[in-house]
Amino acid sequence: MTETLLTGISELVTPAPGPQRGAAMCELTVIKNAALLVRDGMIAWVGSEQEASSAAKRDDLGGVAVVPGLIDPHSHAVWAGDRLTDFEARVAGVPYETILAGGGGIRSSIRATAAATVEQLVALARPRLGALQQSGATTMEVKSGYGLDSDAELRMLRAIRVLSREFELSPTLLIHVPPLEGRDDYVRAVCQTLIPETAADKLATAVDVFCEAEAFTVEETRRIFVAAQAHGLRLKLHADQFHAIGGTELACQMGALSVDHLEASGPAQIAALAASGTVATVLSGVTLHLGLPAAPGRALIDAGAVVAVGTDLNPGSSPLYSVQMALALAVRLNGLTPAEALSAATVNAAAALGLADRGSLSAGMRADFLALHGPDWRELPYALGANPVRDVFTGGVKL
Ligand code: NIG
Ligand code: FE
Repeated sequence: MTETLLTGISELVTPAPGPQRGAAMCELTVIKNAALLVRDGMIAWVGSEQEASSAAKRDDLGGVAVVPGLIDPHSHAVWAGDRLTDFEARVAGVPYETILAGGGGIRSSIRATAAATVEQLVALARPRLGALQQSGATTMEVKSGYGLDSDAELRMLRAIRVLSREFELSPTLLIHVPPLEGRDDYVRAVCQTLIPETAADKLATAVDVFCEAEAFTVEETRRIFVAAQAHGLRLKLHADQFHAIGGTELACQMGALSVDHLEASGPAQIAALAASGTVATVLSGVTLHLGLPAAPGRALIDAGAVVAVGTDLNPGSSPLYSVQMALALAVRLNGLTPAEALSAATVNAAAALGLADRGSLSAGMRADFLALHGPDWRELPYALGANPVRDVFTGGVKL
């Protein structure tokens, strides 16, 4: 048994375990002059330093704030090539969807990624995940989705598996855009071959679909979801990014873990999410980078939904390498309060991945936590462009 008592914590700030919905998202526990007892990688006790029992080993953090490790519930960190020319076209006024419809955008990332080996994909993704981790992410979801054909998708998932030896990752099979011809055959192959192979090799825990006018229809999404559930995989969805075509309602009915994006969600989609256990994940980096309307984070919380925030790190719509910045932008762009944003990036992000053992600093949870540079936790939602995170601990070990 290894035991360490962390002291010198000006304030320990955390949401309670479990997804927090609506008004409960702003209820944080704040313990001043706190201590944290870690035993075998798990939190054994938290409380006031005065009441801490003696432990063999002590680690004095020097009077700084401690919060739970952040969880990035949505990233596309594995890709090859770049979208720098798309970026120039977009800032000159060409819409993201027009670039995609013309065979560029996601399709250009697919061409570049299909040409890369597993080793090349690992080498490209490693520094991106390292950046997310330095920004405070102790668990990161990573999607495939730039593979298109099954072999290339499986190569992406194998790259994620290799990276799982170095990072705490949650792998998702993303069915991203249909081929220009033969989409029905493609959906059939996804359901009959790709999903069964992914499940058999335990290469992913969830299946995600991009349900959108330029991507998959609601009916195609349903077929893919039915196959995923039949193979024991959880459901996630990209929906309402540009048009609310019914994907959110389908995902809520089918018990999906999360629906992500939601920029075009209206009252019906907000009501469906609020009435369900499905997490509504907002992606503030997309709002900043594409300059499109923000997802209605405030309205979702006011309606009683479970709201999370993620980076959506990807080359096209969100080159955001910081989960802290995603949290900070959700306050500016999606109308979350700082306290709500902390819940969104911790316990609620964990729920968006189906994980109940992290996201809160409470006895029995994983000892994943951050020591900030200063004594006030509010630097975390406040700072833009400098990293307020000093130390990242996963399983009680400082990285
Ligand atoms: O979450 N919108 C769909 N998929 C990604 C973007 C991927 C890309 O542009 O390469 C997203 O925004
Ligand atoms: Fe995405």
